[in-house]
Amino acid sequence: KTGMFTYDPGFTSTAACDSSITYIDGDKGELTHRGYPIEQLAEKSNYLEVCYLLLYGELPNKEQMADFEQRVTRHTMVHEQMHYFYRGFRRDAHPMAIVCGVVGAMAAFYHDSTDISDAQQREIASIRMIAKLPTIVAMAYKYSVGQPFVYPRNDLDYASNFLHMCFSVPAEEYKIDPVIARAMDLIFTLHADHEQNASTSTVRLAGSSDANPFACIAAGVACLWGPAHGGANEAALNMLREIGTVDRIPEYIARAKDKSDPFRLMGFGHRVYKNYDPRAKVMQETARQVLEIMGVENNPTLQVAKELEKIAGEDPYFIERKLYPNVDFYSGIILDAIGFPTSMFTAIFALSRTVGWIAQWKEMIADPQKKIGRPRQLYMGEPMRDYVEIASR
Ligand code: SDX
Repeated sequence: KTGMFTYDPGFTSTAACDSSITYIDGDKGELTHRGYPIEQLAEKSNYLEVCYLLLYGELPNKEQMADFEQRVTRHTMVHEQMHYFYRGFRRDAHPMAIVCGVVGAMAAFYHDSTDISDAQQREIASIRMIAKLPTIVAMAYKYSVGQPFVYPRNDLDYASNFLHMCFSVPAEEYKIDPVIARAMDLIFTLHADHEQNASTSTVRLAGSSDANPFACIAAGVACLWGPAHGGANEAALNMLREIGTVDRIPEYIARAKDKSDPFRLMGFGHRVYKNYDPRAKVMQETARQVLEIMGVENNPTLQVAKELEKIAGEDPYFIERKLYPNVDFYSGIILDAIGFPTSMFTAIFALSRTVGWIAQWKEMIADPQKKIGRPRQLYMGEPMRDYVEIASR
């Protein structure tokens, strides 16, 4: 144990930290949160209950759940001054640029009195972020489409409230379909946490300097935006639309295999999963249900996605490299069917992942041993040498 990195000769990789929150078995395609398989949480739980589990380590009883839900509900509004912050962005700003800026700005709006303990400050900041991210993301969407911001409602559940804030307008309340609200909640749950992925590691590293928690989450948002990470859901749907019809799939499969072509199948492959991403399986079935309820079950994009998965699944290139659909392959189809533009997909991923970032940040802050201190490097540059005056160069 080097304190920062634990290298076990039995492992083929170094672990950045130890954690008790999420476990992934990449070879078996297994994902558990505090020991509970994602398939069971997806089927039987809901996002806020999974938030409680990730934050506090156990599933809540009725009283604990009611208290947690009440605390989150009563923090869903943002400071009225934050509305003006949005007006500084261009209307065509990418929602992730807005969310990244606004989450960071929360550090300027929310700092509690010093007469409470650090642990209490951390708890309040955690609740505020889980409660306010849907409002912040919905406001980014409203701003991008030129509609007025819609305030959260305390009588709606977490997913329904988000849909309400995105799709209601002063002239007409959005009619919440329970199947759509359930699918939205499932999207949140399936993205809640995922061990030490790039954005979570970013939050841990930022937090290890005791930086402001809102600023640490903003760092996670920034990292998630990359197309190799959370930005893949937007890229995956754009790819499926570009392919357009199943007869064009072979052309894209060939491009994905061509090393001289930078094109990769978006929503395919994973740094850890060398088996099917368990979240993708749930996502595929949810996509089918949502499209059915929307009356577009023969949606061409879903047909292309399923045929692409089938063809790639029979192709030696993908089989040898253990490349399977990941969480981003089907999620965009669901979000598109619900009515979101592709530019909102990663912002919704960020909203969902906020609880994972917070749970991992709290775990690290609570135990100095878990802090990723200051990574070292393997220096590959020039040996020490003396300065040469410019006249002699
Ligand atoms: C997320 O870490 C997390 O947990 C992330 C995440 C989370 O919940 O936080 O799960 C969310 O980020 C999912 C991943 C989303 N990204 C994409 O879908 C983008 C497309 N995927 C790839 O860019 C890629 O698969 C990565 C970045 C995800 C993984 O890249 P690696 O580590 O290079 O993949 P690999 O080591 O498994 O690659 C092995 C081979 C390589 O070819 P060879 O050099 O062996 O010939 O497979 C090839 C790669 O070139 N390959 C692909 C491919 N992914 C890998 N070839 C074509 N299409 C792909 N998508």
